[in-house]
Amino acid sequence: MTGRAVGAGIPPFIKWVGGKRGLVEQLLPHLPKQFGRFHEPFAGGAALFFTLRPKRASLSDENERLVRSYVGLRDDTDEVIRLLKTYPHDRAFFEAQRARDIDAESDAEVAAWFIYLNKTGFNGLYRVNSKNRFNVPFGRYAKPNICDVPTLRACAAALSGVRIERCDFERAARRAKTGDLVYFDPPYVPLSATSSFTSYTSGRFDLDAHARLRDTALALAERGVHVLLSNSSSDVVRDLYASRFDLVSVNARRAINSKGDGRRAIPELLIRSRTY
Ligand SMILES: C[S@@+](CC[C@H](N)C(=O)[O-])C[C@H]1O[C@@H](n2cnc3c(N)ncnc32)[C@H](O)[C@@H]1O
Repeated sequence: MTGRAVGAGIPPFIKWVGGKRGLVEQLLPHLPKQFGRFHEPFAGGAALFFTLRPKRASLSDENERLVRSYVGLRDDTDEVIRLLKTYPHDRAFFEAQRARDIDAESDAEVAAWFIYLNKTGFNGLYRVNSKNRFNVPFGRYAKPNICDVPTLRACAAALSGVRIERCDFERAARRAKTGDLVYFDPPYVPLSATSSFTSYTSGRFDLDAHARLRDTALALAERGVHVLLSNSSSDVVRDLYASRFDLVSVNARRAINSKGDGRRAIPELLIRSRTY
Protein backbone atom coordinates (compact mmCIF):
# COMPACT_ATOMS: atom_id res chain seq x y z
CA MET A 1 0.00 0.00 0.00
CA THR A 2 1.33 3.44 -0.83
CA GLY A 3 -1.21 5.12 1.44
CA ARG A 4 -1.62 8.84 1.77
CA ALA A 5 0.19 11.97 0.67
CA VAL A 6 3.96 12.02 0.44
CA GLY A 7 4.37 15.76 1.12
CA ALA A 8 2.66 19.12 1.22
CA GLY A 9 -0.04 19.67 -1.38
CA ILE A 10 0.52 21.91 -4.39
CA PRO A 11 -1.98 23.88 -6.43
CA PRO A 12 -3.03 22.54 -9.86
CA PHE A 13 -1.19 24.16 -12.79
CA ILE A 14 -4.51 25.00 -14.45
CA LYS A 15 -7.80 26.40 -13.27
CA TRP A 16 -10.70 24.09 -14.14
CA VAL A 17 -14.45 24.52 -14.07
CA GLY A 18 -15.74 22.31 -11.26
CA GLY A 19 -12.18 22.01 -9.93
CA LYS A 20 -11.89 20.77 -6.36
CA ARG A 21 -9.22 23.14 -5.11
CA GLY A 22 -11.61 24.86 -2.69
CA LEU A 23 -13.09 21.60 -1.46
CA VAL A 24 -10.03 19.45 -1.01
CA GLU A 25 -9.76 19.97 2.76
CA GLN A 26 -13.28 18.62 3.11
CA LEU A 27 -12.49 15.57 1.00
CA LEU A 28 -9.45 14.49 3.01
CA PRO A 29 -11.30 13.18 6.11
CA HIS A 30 -13.32 10.90 3.83
CA LEU A 31 -10.43 9.08 2.22
CA PRO A 32 -9.48 5.60 3.38
CA LYS A 33 -6.47 5.63 5.73
CA GLN A 34 -4.56 3.34 3.40
CA PHE A 35 -4.95 2.56 -0.25
CA GLY A 36 -2.97 1.12 -3.12
CA ARG A 37 -2.97 3.07 -6.37
CA PHE A 38 -4.86 6.37 -6.61
CA HIS A 39 -7.05 6.79 -9.72
CA GLU A 40 -8.67 10.04 -10.88
CA PRO A 41 -10.66 9.23 -14.06
CA PHE A 42 -12.21 12.72 -14.45
CA ALA A 43 -8.88 14.46 -13.86
CA GLY A 44 -9.62 18.06 -14.99
CA GLY A 45 -7.24 20.16 -12.87
CA ALA A 46 -6.67 17.11 -10.59
CA ALA A 47 -6.79 19.15 -7.38
CA LEU A 48 -7.06 16.09 -5.13
CA PHE A 49 -4.17 14.36 -6.88
CA PHE A 50 -1.92 17.43 -6.46
CA THR A 51 -2.87 17.65 -2.80
CA LEU A 52 -2.11 14.00 -2.09
CA ARG A 53 0.79 13.60 -4.50
CA PRO A 54 0.51 9.81 -4.30
CA LYS A 55 3.49 7.86 -5.59
CA ARG A 56 1.33 5.35 -7.45
CA ALA A 57 -1.39 7.07 -9.44
CA SER A 58 -3.34 7.03 -12.70
CA LEU A 59 -4.88 10.18 -14.13
CA SER A 60 -7.23 10.19 -17.08
CA ASP A 61 -9.77 12.39 -18.77
CA GLU A 62 -11.55 12.33 -22.11
CA ASN A 63 -10.15 15.76 -23.09
CA GLU A 64 -7.22 14.93 -25.34
CA ARG A 65 -5.50 18.33 -25.22
CA LEU A 66 -5.76 18.41 -21.44
CA VAL A 67 -4.23 14.94 -21.20
CA ARG A 68 -1.45 15.83 -23.67
CA SER A 69 -0.73 18.90 -21.51
CA TYR A 70 -0.14 16.67 -18.49
CA VAL A 71 2.17 14.47 -20.54
CA GLY A 72 4.02 17.47 -21.99
CA LEU A 73 4.54 19.03 -18.58
CA ARG A 74 5.70 15.74 -17.04
CA ASP A 75 8.07 14.72 -19.83
CA ASP A 76 9.34 18.05 -21.18
CA THR A 77 9.05 20.53 -18.30
CA ASP A 78 11.97 22.74 -19.41
CA GLU A 79 10.53 23.16 -22.91
CA VAL A 80 7.05 24.04 -21.57
CA ILE A 81 8.61 26.69 -19.29
CA ARG A 82 10.86 27.98 -22.08
CA LEU A 83 7.85 28.41 -24.40
CA LEU A 84 5.63 30.03 -21.76
CA LYS A 85 8.35 32.57 -20.93
CA THR A 86 8.16 33.82 -24.52
CA TYR A 87 4.34 34.16 -24.54
CA PRO A 88 3.23 37.77 -23.83
CA HIS A 89 -0.01 38.90 -22.21
CA ASP A 90 -1.44 40.48 -25.31
CA ARG A 91 -4.80 40.20 -27.06
CA ALA A 92 -3.38 39.79 -30.57
CA PHE A 93 -1.00 37.07 -29.40
CA PHE A 94 -3.89 35.36 -27.55
CA GLU A 95 -6.00 35.38 -30.72
CA ALA A 96 -3.15 33.96 -32.78
CA GLN A 97 -2.65 31.17 -30.23
CA ARG A 98 -6.35 30.46 -30.14
CA ALA A 99 -6.39 30.01 -33.93
CA ARG A 100 -3.40 27.64 -34.00
CA ASP A 101 -3.83 24.12 -35.32
CA ILE A 102 -2.32 22.73 -32.13
CA ASP A 103 -3.07 19.02 -32.43
CA ALA A 104 -0.23 18.38 -34.88
CA GLU A 105 2.32 19.84 -32.44
CA SER A 106 4.39 18.14 -29.72
CA ASP A 107 3.00 17.48 -26.23
CA ALA A 108 5.18 20.31 -24.87
CA GLU A 109 3.71 22.75 -27.42
CA VAL A 110 0.20 21.58 -26.55
CA ALA A 111 0.93 22.04 -22.82
CA ALA A 112 2.27 25.60 -23.29
CA TRP A 113 -0.70 26.46 -25.53
CA PHE A 114 -3.19 25.01 -23.06
CA ILE A 115 -1.66 26.69 -20.01
CA TYR A 116 -1.36 30.05 -21.81
CA LEU A 117 -5.02 30.04 -22.90
CA ASN A 118 -6.09 28.86 -19.43
CA LYS A 119 -4.24 31.74 -17.75
CA THR A 120 -5.29 34.47 -20.17
CA GLY A 121 -8.73 33.38 -21.47
CA PHE A 122 -12.02 34.44 -19.91
CA ASN A 123 -12.36 32.89 -16.43
CA GLY A 124 -9.97 30.06 -17.32
CA LEU A 125 -12.73 28.39 -19.33
CA TYR A 126 -12.06 25.64 -21.84
CA ARG A 127 -14.62 25.54 -24.63
CA VAL A 128 -14.39 24.56 -28.28
CA ASN A 129 -16.63 25.02 -31.31
CA SER A 130 -17.95 22.26 -33.59
CA LYS A 131 -14.55 22.16 -35.35
CA ASN A 132 -12.78 21.62 -32.03
CA ARG A 133 -11.31 25.16 -32.16
CA PHE A 134 -10.83 26.85 -28.80
CA ASN A 135 -13.32 29.72 -28.74
CA VAL A 136 -13.11 31.39 -25.32
CA PRO A 137 -12.58 35.18 -25.49
CA PHE A 138 -9.59 37.07 -24.07
CA GLY A 139 -9.89 37.38 -20.28
CA ARG A 140 -9.91 40.50 -18.15
CA TYR A 141 -6.81 39.84 -16.10
CA ALA A 142 -4.43 42.69 -15.30
CA LYS A 143 -1.31 40.58 -14.80
CA PRO A 144 -1.88 36.83 -15.13
CA ASN A 145 0.90 34.54 -13.96
CA ILE A 146 1.42 32.90 -17.34
CA CYS A 147 4.60 31.08 -16.37
CA ASP A 148 4.41 30.12 -12.69
CA VAL A 149 7.71 28.24 -12.62
CA PRO A 150 7.57 26.90 -9.02
CA THR A 151 4.06 25.48 -9.54
CA LEU A 152 4.92 24.04 -12.96
CA ARG A 153 8.03 22.33 -11.58
CA ALA A 154 6.22 21.04 -8.49
CA CYS A 155 3.37 19.67 -10.62
CA ALA A 156 5.84 18.06 -13.04
CA ALA A 157 7.60 16.38 -10.10
CA ALA A 158 4.26 15.13 -8.72
CA LEU A 159 3.44 13.69 -12.16
CA SER A 160 6.68 11.78 -12.44
CA GLY A 161 5.91 8.06 -12.76
CA VAL A 162 2.16 8.69 -12.98
CA ARG A 163 0.15 6.88 -15.64
CA ILE A 164 -1.64 9.52 -17.76
CA GLU A 165 -4.15 8.53 -20.35
CA ARG A 166 -6.96 9.85 -22.46
CA CYS A 167 -9.94 7.56 -21.99
CA ASP A 168 -13.52 7.23 -20.83
CA PHE A 169 -13.99 6.80 -17.06
CA GLU A 170 -15.29 3.25 -17.41
CA ARG A 171 -12.15 2.05 -19.12
CA ALA A 172 -9.99 3.79 -16.52
CA ALA A 173 -11.98 2.14 -13.73
CA ARG A 174 -11.34 -1.33 -15.12
CA ARG A 175 -7.67 -0.99 -14.22
CA ALA A 176 -8.31 -0.44 -10.50
CA LYS A 177 -7.43 -3.31 -8.19
CA THR A 178 -8.68 -4.39 -4.74
CA GLY A 179 -7.49 -1.87 -2.14
CA ASP A 180 -6.98 0.96 -4.68
CA LEU A 181 -8.83 4.28 -4.37
CA VAL A 182 -10.84 5.75 -7.24
CA TYR A 183 -12.01 9.36 -6.93
CA PHE A 184 -14.73 10.20 -9.46
CA ASP A 185 -15.48 13.88 -10.04
CA PRO A 186 -17.81 13.89 -13.07
CA PRO A 187 -19.66 16.82 -14.62
CA TYR A 188 -22.45 17.26 -12.06
CA VAL A 189 -26.14 16.47 -12.35
CA PRO A 190 -27.76 19.95 -12.51
CA LEU A 191 -29.63 20.84 -9.32
CA SER A 192 -32.71 21.47 -11.40
CA ALA A 193 -32.83 17.88 -12.74
CA THR A 194 -35.81 15.76 -11.77
CA SER A 195 -35.76 12.08 -10.91
CA SER A 196 -36.97 11.15 -14.36
CA PHE A 197 -34.10 9.62 -16.29
CA THR A 198 -35.27 10.99 -19.60
CA SER A 199 -36.22 14.51 -18.67
CA TYR A 200 -32.99 16.30 -19.40
CA THR A 201 -29.47 16.09 -20.73
CA SER A 202 -26.48 18.06 -19.53
CA GLY A 203 -24.02 18.39 -22.37
CA ARG A 204 -22.87 14.93 -23.28
CA PHE A 205 -22.79 13.71 -19.69
CA ASP A 206 -26.46 12.92 -19.50
CA LEU A 207 -28.38 10.81 -17.02
CA ASP A 208 -27.51 7.61 -18.85
CA ALA A 209 -23.86 8.48 -18.29
CA HIS A 210 -24.56 9.09 -14.59
CA ALA A 211 -26.30 5.71 -14.35
CA ARG A 212 -23.32 4.09 -16.10
CA LEU A 213 -21.03 5.81 -13.59
CA ARG A 214 -23.07 4.52 -10.65
CA ASP A 215 -22.90 0.98 -12.06
CA THR A 216 -19.15 1.35 -12.52
CA ALA A 217 -18.76 2.57 -8.93
CA LEU A 218 -20.84 -0.36 -7.65
CA ALA A 219 -18.81 -2.90 -9.61
CA LEU A 220 -15.61 -1.41 -8.17
CA ALA A 221 -16.90 -1.53 -4.59
CA GLU A 222 -17.95 -5.15 -5.10
CA ARG A 223 -14.33 -5.95 -6.03
CA GLY A 224 -13.06 -4.22 -2.86
CA VAL A 225 -11.92 -1.02 -4.57
CA HIS A 226 -12.50 2.09 -2.42
CA VAL A 227 -14.64 4.66 -4.22
CA LEU A 228 -15.15 8.32 -3.43
CA LEU A 229 -17.38 10.35 -5.73
CA SER A 230 -18.50 13.99 -5.84
CA ASN A 231 -21.80 15.17 -7.25
CA SER A 232 -24.53 17.72 -6.71
CA SER A 233 -26.90 17.52 -3.77
CA SER A 234 -29.84 16.58 -6.00
CA ASP A 235 -32.62 14.03 -5.72
CA VAL A 236 -31.32 12.31 -8.84
CA VAL A 237 -27.95 11.70 -7.19
CA ARG A 238 -29.54 10.50 -3.94
CA ASP A 239 -31.75 8.08 -5.90
CA LEU A 240 -28.75 6.71 -7.74
CA TYR A 241 -26.50 6.14 -4.73
CA ALA A 242 -28.34 6.15 -1.40
CA SER A 243 -29.09 2.43 -1.12
CA ARG A 244 -25.54 1.11 -1.66
CA PHE A 245 -23.22 3.99 -0.66
CA ASP A 246 -22.80 6.40 2.26
CA LEU A 247 -23.70 10.00 1.43
CA VAL A 248 -22.10 12.98 3.19
CA SER A 249 -23.07 16.61 2.65
CA VAL A 250 -20.23 19.13 2.22
CA ASN A 251 -20.22 22.84 1.44
CA ALA A 252 -18.41 24.01 -1.68
CA ARG A 253 -17.64 27.66 -2.30
CA ARG A 254 -18.67 28.29 -5.87
CA ALA A 255 -18.87 31.26 -8.18
CA ILE A 256 -22.53 32.08 -8.52
CA ASN A 257 -22.45 34.19 -11.65
CA SER A 258 -20.53 34.27 -14.91
CA LYS A 259 -18.36 37.18 -13.80
CA GLY A 260 -17.09 35.03 -10.96
CA ASP A 261 -17.38 37.92 -8.54
CA GLY A 262 -20.05 36.41 -6.34
CA ARG A 263 -19.34 33.32 -4.24
CA ARG A 264 -21.40 31.40 -1.77
CA ALA A 265 -21.43 27.99 -0.12
CA ILE A 266 -23.40 25.44 -2.12
CA PRO A 267 -24.07 22.06 -0.50
CA GLU A 268 -22.91 19.08 -2.51
CA LEU A 269 -22.59 15.36 -1.93
CA LEU A 270 -19.65 13.12 -1.25
CA ILE A 271 -20.49 9.52 -1.98
CA ARG A 272 -18.39 6.82 -0.28
CA SER A 273 -18.24 3.10 -0.89
CA ARG A 274 -18.81 0.89 2.14
CA THR A 275 -15.43 -0.72 1.69
CA TYR A 276 -13.72 1.32 4.46
C1 LIG B 1 -15.71 18.39 -12.82
S1 LIG B 1 -14.39 18.16 -13.94
C2 LIG B 1 -13.17 17.44 -12.88
C3 LIG B 1 -12.50 18.47 -12.00
C4 LIG B 1 -11.29 17.97 -11.23
N1 LIG B 1 -11.63 17.06 -10.17
C5 LIG B 1 -10.47 19.13 -10.66
O1 LIG B 1 -10.12 19.15 -9.48
O2 LIG B 1 -10.16 20.04 -11.44
C6 LIG B 1 -14.96 16.85 -14.96
C7 LIG B 1 -13.96 16.31 -16.00
O3 LIG B 1 -14.54 15.15 -16.59
C8 LIG B 1 -14.11 15.04 -17.94
N2 LIG B 1 -15.04 14.10 -18.59
C9 LIG B 1 -16.31 14.34 -19.04
N3 LIG B 1 -16.84 13.19 -19.52
C10 LIG B 1 -15.92 12.21 -19.33
C11 LIG B 1 -15.90 10.79 -19.62
N4 LIG B 1 -16.95 10.17 -20.17
N5 LIG B 1 -14.79 10.09 -19.28
C12 LIG B 1 -13.71 10.72 -18.73
N6 LIG B 1 -13.67 12.05 -18.47
C13 LIG B 1 -14.76 12.79 -18.77
C14 LIG B 1 -14.10 16.47 -18.44
O4 LIG B 1 -13.21 16.62 -19.53
C15 LIG B 1 -13.64 17.25 -17.15
O5 LIG B 1 -12.24 17.48 -17.19
